[in-house]
Amino acid sequence: MSRTERPQQVVMKFGGSSVSDRASWERICEQVLARQAEGYQPVIVHSAITGVTGQLDNLLTDAVAGGYARLLENISTRHLQLAADLDLDGETLLHGYLSELEKISAGIALVGEVSYRLQARVLAFGELMATTLGASYLRERKINAEWWDVRDILQSDPKTNSNERARYLAATCTFAPDSQLQEEFARSGAVIVTQGFIARDPNGATVLLGRSSSDTTASYLAARLGASRLEIWTDVPGMYSADPRLVPSARLLKRLDYYETQEIATTGGRILHPACLPPVRERNIPLFIRCTSNPEISGTVVSRDPAESVPRVKAISVKSGLTLLSIETMGMWQQVGFLADAFQCFSRNGVSIDLVSTSETNVTVSLDDDANGIDADVLDRVVAELSDLGRVRIIRSCAAISLVGRHIRAILHELGPALELFEEHKIYLVSQAANDLNFTFVVDEEQSHRLVQRLHELLITPTCEDPVLGATWSELGQSDADGRASDSTWWKVKRQQLIDLTPDEEAVYVYDAQTLSGVATALQELPTLDQVFYAIKANANIKVIQLFHEAGLGFECVSPGEVRHVMAACPGIDPKRILFTPNFAPRGDYEFALDMGVWMTLDNIYPLQRWSDLFNDTDVFVRIDPGRGRGHHKHVKTAGKNSKFGVPLFELDDLAKQAEACGVRIVGLHAHTGSGILTPTNWQGLAILLAELADGFPEVHTLNLGGGLGVPEQSHQARLDLGALNESLQTIKSARPRLKLWLEPGRFLVAEAGVLLARVTQTKGKDGVGYVGINTGMNSFMRPALYGAYHEIANLTRLDEPATELVNVVGPICETADQLGGERLLPPCREGDVMLIANTGAYGRVMSSHYNLREPAGEIVI
Ligand code: LLP
Repeated sequence: MSRTERPQQVVMKFGGSSVSDRASWERICEQVLARQAEGYQPVIVHSAITGVTGQLDNLLTDAVAGGYARLLENISTRHLQLAADLDLDGETLLHGYLSELEKISAGIALVGEVSYRLQARVLAFGELMATTLGASYLRERKINAEWWDVRDILQSDPKTNSNERARYLAATCTFAPDSQLQEEFARSGAVIVTQGFIARDPNGATVLLGRSSSDTTASYLAARLGASRLEIWTDVPGMYSADPRLVPSARLLKRLDYYETQEIATTGGRILHPACLPPVRERNIPLFIRCTSNPEISGTVVSRDPAESVPRVKAISVKSGLTLLSIETMGMWQQVGFLADAFQCFSRNGVSIDLVSTSETNVTVSLDDDANGIDADVLDRVVAELSDLGRVRIIRSCAAISLVGRHIRAILHELGPALELFEEHKIYLVSQAANDLNFTFVVDEEQSHRLVQRLHELLITPTCEDPVLGATWSELGQSDADGRASDSTWWKVKRQQLIDLTPDEEAVYVYDAQTLSGVATALQELPTLDQVFYAIKANANIKVIQLFHEAGLGFECVSPGEVRHVMAACPGIDPKRILFTPNFAPRGDYEFALDMGVWMTLDNIYPLQRWSDLFNDTDVFVRIDPGRGRGHHKHVKTAGKNSKFGVPLFELDDLAKQAEACGVRIVGLHAHTGSGILTPTNWQGLAILLAELADGFPEVHTLNLGGGLGVPEQSHQARLDLGALNESLQTIKSARPRLKLWLEPGRFLVAEAGVLLARVTQTKGKDGVGYVGINTGMNSFMRPALYGAYHEIANLTRLDEPATELVNVVGPICETADQLGGERLLPPCREGDVMLIANTGAYGRVMSSHYNLREPAGEIVI
């Protein structure tokens, strides 16, 4: 064959989930045949079958401990099972690998340790075995396929990795063009099948290219072959303008350039490994991201040519799990070498830095917890060493939100409305990359999802015939990735009952008694808690209160009205099952509560100073301001000098003296940092602080750790782990067995048990923006307008119909803020349909109003 007639190669990479069953392999065959029909020679790079690399990793741990047989058996069975599904003789094909794996495992068990070199060798078995089956299956299907050991093609470059671990487990390879290899492949004319993830070092030892690196292998090969294109086949249709699980209206990005793609991949998009871009970029090879289960979707094409040259934000990505270190000093001012000294300290401790911002007196850096696997010791060392340079502050649980797009600097002025969103949120660090591709904000992790949703709403708007923004996730027929409630959610199970009880004219809140009891029991069963009090401000429905009373909960009240309400709902209730936690309340409220004999919490020294006559010979709790607030929104963070709640730490001594002078016994300490917290260790932090303070108050017998327990807004968010919460409190319980621990949650007990039901009134379409109106709005439910809260909305009447329209769900109130949900994907809604707004059991009806003189929704308990 002459040089010009040589077939052009296409490198096709398939991930683990694309090679783990017969149906996927049939789809691979179709694509291979299609490429051949187009005149290309396919070069297939694929991964181990799903989960096998992890199992091999565990096999090493088991072997070191001596007992590897069970896992080895499992790995073997999985491969033999796949072979059987593919009608292949797995025993014969894999015998060599399996017996070698057995021998190596026995050797490791004998010596009780494993080197990096051996670790790489063992982990390589996943790819070697899977590709052996893959090549055989293609041959079985009468496709001329040749299996190649990629280690004979790719050699690692040890110079690029400084430490041994990286040389074996996260190696990089050179990718200079190799016409000999290209000719050799071309001569064979077969479909080449080879492995991702592995290579060989110059001494012949197996090395790995790091987790999820098959993309990179494929890109190296494409570059070495000068392939016509690289195709990365995954389980999603391409790259998106945001994570579709967070933002249901996220859109497929049809065209991107290499740099933008790399930026999205590095700032949090998980579709592509960022290291796979430079090789194809340098040789100008177009990259196609396609979906194995939906090959008809054209996916994302990455090339040198942007589809359009106007600057615009194309994607909003988020990277969670960041820790910030902020170094405050005057020593930097005109000092030579200060930054070098600071960065040396990170380098010495093997910690890599993500983002940096510097001013004359402050350096702040972000560390990626995932990438660094930072353990507490390393962080302590870094902090200790940096403390020689200045005052160091650690800020944990942060997230970086990046707006990505070419020439982002040119559109900073358009970000005005988007920046207003940040007015409500603390920004720790802003970075605008010198490559003009991203603008990044670092904020509290717990705010990040909601911010991404709102930024997406504001900044990503498709134009007519948009060359970049394609269809949304659901429009492309992808299943439930948008964080909707699962089918076992109570309101889906009781759907018909809910439809039947929805009035024609009015809206109604419905609370599910079974769900309420379930949550109450789960909390009460936590062994470290001595008593749970329900904060009735979340939902004061009388039946809800009675149900919790019977379940054995106490009640936390903030006004005489709430105390009276509980006493009326539960006649004869022991007053010691009621807490009164007033804030800036008038003198009469304290008089009332003392008369009633309920527990009283003081959150200011003022009542003791000015109304001391009231308090003689009484027991009180003192609410401490722990300094830092948390919560889903700035309005619900209740600590720090900008919050009106609690006694500041510096005033405690004075308060203790004042209390003694008034004949007041301080028997409990209380703290509540905010509302909607999903981090289980939050209450441990409070308990430690209060327990230490309690050492100065001999009469304290109880620590009330407040409420604030969050529920996820969307189902992809992790639920608050009650087991972890309990475990974290156990340390305090063991250290101070004398102290009782109380919690006073509101939201956690009622939010998910409640839904708001309303009927569709009218619909409207306005220049591409759709509206569905319902018969109640912010008069019944304030949370979306007040906090930008996200609540799932479903059309109960058409729950089974395909969701095809992106609409804003609005109420009848004369305010633009009267919107219950923006950009929701719903089936076409008709007048009279029953709409459901989920998770509205907390802070729903209690915060409603008669605004516009419209009666808010009533309540029913079922
Ligand atoms: N204890 C104290 C002293 C509180 O101030 C609060 C709530 C709680 C307990 C109960 O917090 P929970 O467990 O429900 O988070 N309207 C806002 C929430 C305001 C919370 C006020 N204080 C919202 O809809 O998100």
